[in-house]
Amino acid sequence: MRSSFQHQPVLLNECLELLALKPGALVLDGTVGGGGHAAAILERTAPDGKLLGLDRDPAALAAAAQTLARFDSRAELIHASYRDIARILTERKLSHVDGVLLDLGVSSHQIDMPQRGFRFSETSKQEIPLDMRMDPQASFSAADLLAHASLQELQECFQNYGELPGSRRLATAIVEARRHTPIRTTRDLLEIIHTARIGGGRKHNPATLVFQALRIAVNDELRTLEQGIEAILDALGPEGRVAIIAYHSLEDRIVKNHFRNAAKGCVCPPQFPVCHCGKKPRLRLVTRKAVTPTESEIAGNPRARSARLRVAEKLAEVA
Ligand SMILES: C[S@@+](CC[C@H](N)C(=O)[O-])C[C@H]1O[C@@H](n2cnc3c(N)ncnc32)[C@H](O)[C@@H]1O
Repeated sequence: MRSSFQHQPVLLNECLELLALKPGALVLDGTVGGGGHAAAILERTAPDGKLLGLDRDPAALAAAAQTLARFDSRAELIHASYRDIARILTERKLSHVDGVLLDLGVSSHQIDMPQRGFRFSETSKQEIPLDMRMDPQASFSAADLLAHASLQELQECFQNYGELPGSRRLATAIVEARRHTPIRTTRDLLEIIHTARIGGGRKHNPATLVFQALRIAVNDELRTLEQGIEAILDALGPEGRVAIIAYHSLEDRIVKNHFRNAAKGCVCPPQFPVCHCGKKPRLRLVTRKAVTPTESEIAGNPRARSARLRVAEKLAEVA
């Protein structure tokens, strides 16, 4: 049976080249989605390479199971966040992995399913619930956040995760609106955004920034990424590589800074004659600048346009 999960893997050849995988490698795909990248990784590591595929979304895992069925026991799919990589390896008595891929954000499939609430339409009359949970079993949806967050928390959410001009004004409008009726659908929220008249004349539609901010908050995406990178660095074996594709500047900044910091040695002030901090580099940067999709990839898959790939290698002596 053909899967209805449609997602074209982004920067696929670049990931495969830069991960430099060898036959027999054990790879963790922390965001397996529909399994597009995972299938190509399993082909690269044939005949006996293995892949652990994680996703928070059971629908993604079901789709990946179909895509990866032909690899049989070479692929294991796990309902988990990549933040929990240490536990996952311990449970399987694995000391390390040879490569890790994170392809962050939401899949095309998630965006295209209206009931998941990741997408909004200014013109549609459809009642789309404000959900946005990547894991439908998680307890907290975007509607819950809008119902319970304080004025200050709402403002910080829009400011920090959406870099939204007028964050305070929107937070105030939400607190006022919810005193009268619950904010349940994307239409309810769009109406408040319009009434609050925020972000006029800016490059980005304010609603896009608001929806981005809510999605990041509901799924705790930035903290997960910070903790996840740390866990991945611990999990990588000697000369193991990690490749991360980010889709907005907040994520990409975290990846860039984390990799750079881990690639740096001593951080003592320059006037110190000898090192006191003892900090040693753990990583080598494989990409100095982010790799971006070619024009032809973007033409074939417009959702690739904001992708930025960074790759780093664990130094053998610290593994
Ligand atoms: C862009 S898609 C990945 C697509 C995949 N590379 C492919 O080729 O089909 C991102 C996926 O990551 C999942 N995801 C997001 N955050 C996650 C996390 N913290 N842990 C595990 N999966 C996560 C989403 O549910 C989604 O299925």
